[in-house]
Amino acid sequence: MKLLNIGCGRCYHNAWTNIDLVAATPEVRAYDLRRGLPYQDDQFDGVYHSHVLEHLTPDAAASMLRECARVLKPGGVLRVAVPDLEGIAREYLRTLQAASDQSTPTNIARHRWMTLELIDQMTRQRTGGLMGQTIREPGETPQEFIRGRLGYEVEGNAKVKNHKTLGMRLSRLLASTRKQLALTAVTIIDGSTGRDAYREGRFRQSGELHRWMYDRVSLSRLLTDIGMDHPQVCHADESRIDRFDSYGLDRDGQRVRKPDSLFMEAIKVSQAATRSTSSPSANAA
Ligand SMILES: C[S@@+](CC[C@H](N)C(=O)[O-])C[C@H]1O[C@@H](n2cnc3c(N)ncnc32)[C@H](O)[C@@H]1O
Repeated sequence: MKLLNIGCGRCYHNAWTNIDLVAATPEVRAYDLRRGLPYQDDQFDGVYHSHVLEHLTPDAAASMLRECARVLKPGGVLRVAVPDLEGIAREYLRTLQAASDQSTPTNIARHRWMTLELIDQMTRQRTGGLMGQTIREPGETPQEFIRGRLGYEVEGNAKVKNHKTLGMRLSRLLASTRKQLALTAVTIIDGSTGRDAYREGRFRQSGELHRWMYDRVSLSRLLTDIGMDHPQVCHADESRIDRFDSYGLDRDGQRVRKPDSLFMEAIKVSQAATRSTSSPSANAA
């Protein structure tokens, strides 16, 4: 079985090929998805990404899904997890009503949290944004409410710790020195406006921001539009990928890692629909 986990962050399994913009450990290949996938056609039995699609613009997301379809074998399964726009919107409306009916501090705080879930990750200008600040200092927002929305990882309880090699540390140092030099140059040429724009632009490119959101209708349509078949909503522990639950990606033991998710799978049936326009890097595997 060949399996690919795209934008894995710190959630990966060694039985899979794992790639991310930022390689948190040597087991993860650093790669920018916007360049296409660095694999040949029809390679993988399963392709998975969790909370990645929403970080791409709609055009880039469609291209990325086309790439997923291209590298899947016929009959292969694409599994996608995204924050569920429908679930968030329903919970927002529920907390709005509760806060309007009874403006207790807790009801107001829950409503504020749901507003953050809708907006903060699209608009924030620094890492963590207002959600991060609220997680650190919840005030009246019940912690079980936040945990119920975002899962146990919110407690900083991610499964895998970072192990950085010397090469990874050096390349991080080089990247941060280059950024600092560029910031100094922009500030000299364009003053504080240029400096702030550069900072914001760099942050927007960092992979943290959401650039779109999906629900069961829009994701299903997107998957069929790019040529995948039989899109189906599933639970965290259900999959058409063999033994998926054993890899601990969407569930860790009995706990769903990201409870705010919409999980959807589709099958690559027709090869022609997804045949490569060949990404520039497709032969680099
Ligand atoms: C919210 S995290 C999800 C991480 C992991 N899949 C999970 O479920 O915990 C989004 C991940 O997408 C990655 N990402 C965002 N844009 C990317 C890009 N252009 N290329 C590769 N990875 C990207 C980020 O680096 C980050 O690790």
